[in-house]
Amino acid sequence: MSATMRRTLLSSAARLQIRTPVYTSLKSRPLFRITVRYSSTGSSDECFKINPDSITIFDKSYPSDTWTNVPPQILSALPRKLHLQPSHPIGILRTIVESRFPSSTYARHNTLPAIVSTAQNFDSLGFPMDHPGRSKTDTYYVNEKTVLRTHTSAHQADMFREEEKPGFLISADVYRRDAIDRSHYPVFHQMEGARVWDRKAYASSEELVAAITEDINNIPPTTFSVTVEDPNPPHHAERNPLQPTHSAPEAEAVAAHLKRTLEGVVAEVFGRARQAKIEAGLLTPSTTEEPLKIRWIEAYFPFTSPSWELEVWWDGQWLELLGCGVVQHPVLSSASPSCESKLGWAFGLGLERIAMVLFGIPDIRLFWTRDARFLEQFGEGRVCWFNPYSKYPPCYKDVAFWLPQATEPAAGVSAAGGLGEMQNGQVFHENDLMEIVRGIGGDLVEDVQLIDEFTHPKTKKSSKCYRINYRSMDRSLTNEEVDNIQEKVRQALEKEMKVTLR
Ligand code: DAH
Repeated sequence: MSATMRRTLLSSAARLQIRTPVYTSLKSRPLFRITVRYSSTGSSDECFKINPDSITIFDKSYPSDTWTNVPPQILSALPRKLHLQPSHPIGILRTIVESRFPSSTYARHNTLPAIVSTAQNFDSLGFPMDHPGRSKTDTYYVNEKTVLRTHTSAHQADMFREEEKPGFLISADVYRRDAIDRSHYPVFHQMEGARVWDRKAYASSEELVAAITEDINNIPPTTFSVTVEDPNPPHHAERNPLQPTHSAPEAEAVAAHLKRTLEGVVAEVFGRARQAKIEAGLLTPSTTEEPLKIRWIEAYFPFTSPSWELEVWWDGQWLELLGCGVVQHPVLSSASPSCESKLGWAFGLGLERIAMVLFGIPDIRLFWTRDARFLEQFGEGRVCWFNPYSKYPPCYKDVAFWLPQATEPAAGVSAAGGLGEMQNGQVFHENDLMEIVRGIGGDLVEDVQLIDEFTHPKTKKSSKCYRINYRSMDRSLTNEEVDNIQEKVRQALEKEMKVTLR
């Protein structure tokens, strides 16, 4: 797999291991037209209305087209803004991260609109046209040119152009079509940060390098210590190249500033997570004495080079926290002629993944509950260990089906980044199934897993069986209720994905 083909969008939450699907064919796109249940227009208190040829969101109207795939359930999340609620775990974490970035240097942007153009979300960052992240199976499209942002990086170019301070920090809700399990939710929150320097302010490259290096001293100190592993060279001609516009000392100084800044963020957040665990009696003295351990690994993003990911050693495994790197010069130069002379760094991190660890929250759906038994456990500025109020019983139901009859039995891979199977020239994509299940079961669906698949040796027909696990966060479900949902799921799969139920 080539580095450029890797899905570079950081996952929604505790994706403890990054799934890096193999893309063999970028041409094959799912041909199923997923009919979103558009009959339900927004209720009077909703922020959207779905009309036959357009969608109105926050009073702005967008013509719909064959790309439109954003369902009502997702649009309903637009006003929630968990990152702006000071006593919500996502808001508390956002504030802790912000505390590491002096507002004199880093402007704050916490209310940027979630609906962006494909130019902002992809083109401005140098995403190639065939990048899997652009696919309809991965991204919610309002129409061909308009999406729900899939990452906070969508605002980078605008910020580089408009922001007067040398740095900025963004927090926002982001949207992605994805699997259903305890650590994935189609709406989640990210923070983006960047810092630039203008060559014009310095007489020489040496002076610029000296100023960047000197500025490392201005990073606020933290009371928590960390051990840092950084085994790779600061750049590498093939794996993690310098950009032609940067000298080695320039890129190294920017990288050092970036790394020290983010090490401070992680020390603060995970130092506090440890404290919370000790207070809850969950850490033994011997483990608390070990220093916090983090490591830098090489990465690839279309909009930075060199690039890295930062991981923390937590609960016996490496947990991926964030992506970052030296900003690609074309991102700056095409943002504005005034940015032509600038260089700097950027990073992006997912808040849910970290908040689950920080507060001991076992299921990502809990962030969305309005249940007071959840919300009242948290308070502004406080990190505490979540006390599960109750665990309601799960109930699973299986659904098995044949994929549409194959004319050619070859397996294909969809552009979306997940494995899809070519049948009759159609691609079965798992994210489409997830969307149908989520559209009907909503937050009652805890996870959906493929438990069996086979191809009949004679007929060459392929069968799949998925197990849907239902569990409410707030109450016990009745068997009848679950049977009802399951029946609707079965019918929708048959109708919309053209499978034959078994
Ligand atoms: N936008 C990336 C994602 O969602 C994360 C990211 C990586 C942001 C590197 C950055 C960066 O600013 O430099 O996966």
